[in-house]
Formats: sequence, structure tokens, C-alpha cells
Amino acid sequence: SLFQEKYRPQIHFSPAEHWMNDPNGMVYYEGEYHLLYQHYPEKSVWGPMHWGHAVSKDLVHWEHLPIALYPDSLGYIFSGSAVVDWNNTSGFGTKENPPLVAFFTYHNPDIEQAKEIEVESQAIAYSTDKGRTWTKYDKNPVIKNPGIRDFRDPKVIWHEASKRWIVALASGQEIRFYSSPDCKDWTYLSNFGKGYGCHDGVWECPDLIPLKVKGSDETKWVLIVNINPGGPAGGSATQYFVGDFDGKTFTSNQKKTFWMDHGRDNYAGVTWSDAPDGRQILIGWMNNWQYAGDKPCVKWSGAATLPRELGLVKDGPVYLLTSEPVKEISTLYGESVDLKDINVSKSEVLSDKFDFAKAPIELKLTFNQENNTRLGFASRYGVRLKNGKGEYITIGYENVDKLFYVDRTNAIGEVFSDKFASIHSTPYIVNTPTVEWTLLIDVASVEFFTAEGRIAITDVFYPSEPFDTIEVFTENGDIQITEAKITELHSIWK
Ligand code: FRU
Repeated sequence: SLFQEKYRPQIHFSPAEHWMNDPNGMVYYEGEYHLLYQHYPEKSVWGPMHWGHAVSKDLVHWEHLPIALYPDSLGYIFSGSAVVDWNNTSGFGTKENPPLVAFFTYHNPDIEQAKEIEVESQAIAYSTDKGRTWTKYDKNPVIKNPGIRDFRDPKVIWHEASKRWIVALASGQEIRFYSSPDCKDWTYLSNFGKGYGCHDGVWECPDLIPLKVKGSDETKWVLIVNINPGGPAGGSATQYFVGDFDGKTFTSNQKKTFWMDHGRDNYAGVTWSDAPDGRQILIGWMNNWQYAGDKPCVKWSGAATLPRELGLVKDGPVYLLTSEPVKEISTLYGESVDLKDINVSKSEVLSDKFDFAKAPIELKLTFNQENNTRLGFASRYGVRLKNGKGEYITIGYENVDKLFYVDRTNAIGEVFSDKFASIHSTPYIVNTPTVEWTLLIDVASVEFFTAEGRIAITDVFYPSEPFDTIEVFTENGDIQITEAKITELHSIWK
């Protein structure tokens, strides 16, 4: 049946056929989460970009809809966003039936081939039928190219304090902000980026969101900036800046680089507009430009990450963005098993105690870190997923150098890119008595969340046969797992 091919994600969105990259145009309206995406419908490789389309009522189960936007004489349809224009500022709908307005980049291949600079400009389209059909504005583009080669990925928010639309736009290695009263007429405001964060690649797909600091009444603005290449694990990744936005200028006092995810496969993520209850929910492309075109899937290529709820914590003087899988994942829960007080002093197979070890599954493990200075405490510990072919992936904590890591060097059956096999890690000192790990494991990916959302590592893998054994391990000592809960997840396609 459909969506049962080898490597087909069972708890992640993927297109029925052919290529996808960035998620686009995420907006919530009338009970539906819209997910549009960079799509080439002819082949499973990148090509002239369209916006594919899907909707969900719960962020987990997706219904595929027809392509929303096709390329035209102005160019390919590159990444962007969508909003509900509640007050009909654009005049594209009525107050009773507010329009959805989409913002995208026209990428003109003819100008690109002529090696001229003004390849990219910003344009809009609207829908008055809950996103089922879209009409491009007849006076596009609405933001012309100002003489910058990479000028793309408009993310629009309604800024309540100034009662204007604000767009964040990737512009070379900076972000540009513009404002508009009506989605059509845009005024340049400011730039952000010089001297801040990582500049080892092109800045792409920004997002500007307010977030409340956990446990306080303080609200800060977070500027998400995707960058390719230059990521901590190689290739594409997402950095962020925490600061303030006064309606014109974004300022940040954190010049150093902070990464949202330390794996290699969470890129181009931005948030939903108008998600209920003030939630900030992000979804990314679970891939990396270093090898996205070489992946061993033929019928389709690419998938989205799980949607993640973003938060903000303050650790001393530092603000940190947190990510956790959305709670709606629980709608997929099937059978589960609870194991208590497991003492590990080399390795223990957990999966012989139940019969649903194959993906998709959720694993929650609580490690007792209390005695971690005691002689004999493991220098490294974690989980390994294995198959009968000797292939495996390791998710671990390195207790000497103090880092979380995912090692996928042995998690592929066939080498398809020399860039793929690698270990991805991030320093973190666990200073709580216990630490809880959440692993969401699909047929071809792991999403690892720990340290109460401060650490996320997302990585894809392609074993020649599914992993069917779950093992916990230590090196040079012991560790106690106070609780292990393994939960079967149902496929979203059934
Ligand atoms: C990011 C990106 C965007 C661009 C799109 C093109 O992955 O390069 O900057 O709009 O993909 O498909």
C-alpha cells in the first residue's frame, strides 16, 4: 500500500512522490495546520520549485492537497510564509472571510543564467477558500531586488505594537526587515547580522518570534537564522539570536553562535503563524544540502522533522531556545512497556522484553547521574539501535568530555555520499541528579531531545534492514536507568 516503501518515514510528513525541501507557508486557520513545502513534482531531485501542500488537524496526520503554487514567467517559487490577514488589510478578502496571504521568493533562472545579480524578489499570493486555491497578486513583485544576489525566504508576522506587518528576509549573510500596512507596500527598516553568529555560509529562512522566558513574565524576541553551509555538524544548520525587537530594529547582546539542533538533519525550520494558545511550533526539513540529492529514496526524496514546540529558558545570563516534540505525538501511542531500575555495566538488551522494537517508537530513558563523580561511573553511556547485519546507530553521553552525541558512522547499508558517515555532538554538563532522554525513532531517523529541551540532535540513517534491537550500554563503569519507557507509535499513514 501507499507510504510503505523502504525508508519511508512513518511518523513524519513526506510528499507522496518526488522532491521536497523546506517547509513553507505554515499557517493555522479554521482548525487546520497548513504545511506547504518546496517541491519539484517531476523528479526526486531539486528542480524548478513549486509549493506543495498538505493540511493536518493535529500536526501529526497529514492530508496531501494539490500543488498550491506553480513557477511562472517571473521565476521558480522559493521559500516563504503565510498569514491570516484577519483585518483584510490587503483587500484580497473581506472582514467576514479574511484572506490567507502567502509570501514567497521569485527566483528567476534566466537572470541567474545571465549571471546578473537581481535574481530574487519577493511576491505574494492569496486564498479565500481555506488555502484550497491560490491567486498570485497581479502587481508582483512586492519587494524588488535591491542589488543583493541572495535575497529570499520572507517570513511575515503581524507586529501588534506597531500594528504593521513585518517581514524578516535573508539577504546575503544578514537579515533585512521591512514593514507594511497591507502586505503589498513594503518599507525597508533595518539590517541585522554583521558581527553576530556564524558567517560560514549563506543566511537563509529567517524567523522572528516572541517567546516568554520559562518561569518569568519576561518576553524576548528570538531571531532564527538558517545557514548553509557552516553548521556545527557540517553543512546546513539553524542558529538563533535572542534579543529585542522594537518594530524597526532587532538587537541582540549575544554575539556568539547558538545552534537550535546539533545533528545534521534539521534545516530551514520556521514556525506556524497563528498557532492556537500562543504556541510557537517549528517544523524543519529533515535533511542536509551536503547530500540531500544523493539519498537512497527513489519514489520521493525528503521529509519534514517532527513539529517541535519552542520555548525559552534563562540559564544565568544566557537565554537558550528549547525544543520539544509537540504533545500531539501522543495520538500515535500504541502499546508500551515500563522498565524500572536497570543497572547497566556494559550492555543490556531491552528489546527482548517486548515485541515492538522496530520503528516507529518513542523511548524515554531516565539516567541517574547522581554518582557521576564516583570511581567506576561510566565514562560513556547511551542507547544503541541495531540490526542483524551489524549496522547500528548510537545515541550517547560522553561523560569525560561532557558531550551528547549521535554516532551514525555504522548506520547505513550502502555508502551513497562520502559526507554522510559522522558523529554529531554538543558539549553539555549535566548538573541535575537525573536526566531524561526522549528519542523519537522512525524508520530512517532519530530525534533526540534532552536537558529539558536545551539539547536536540536530529539525524537520518539508512540501514540495509530495519533496526530491531534496542540496547543500552556503558563503557568503563556502571550507570543506573531509573526508568525506561518504550512506546510503540502507529504510522500516521494508516
Ligand atoms: C533553503 C533554500 C532557500 C530557498 C529554497 C530553494 O533550503 O535554499 O533559501 O528559498 O531552499 O529551494
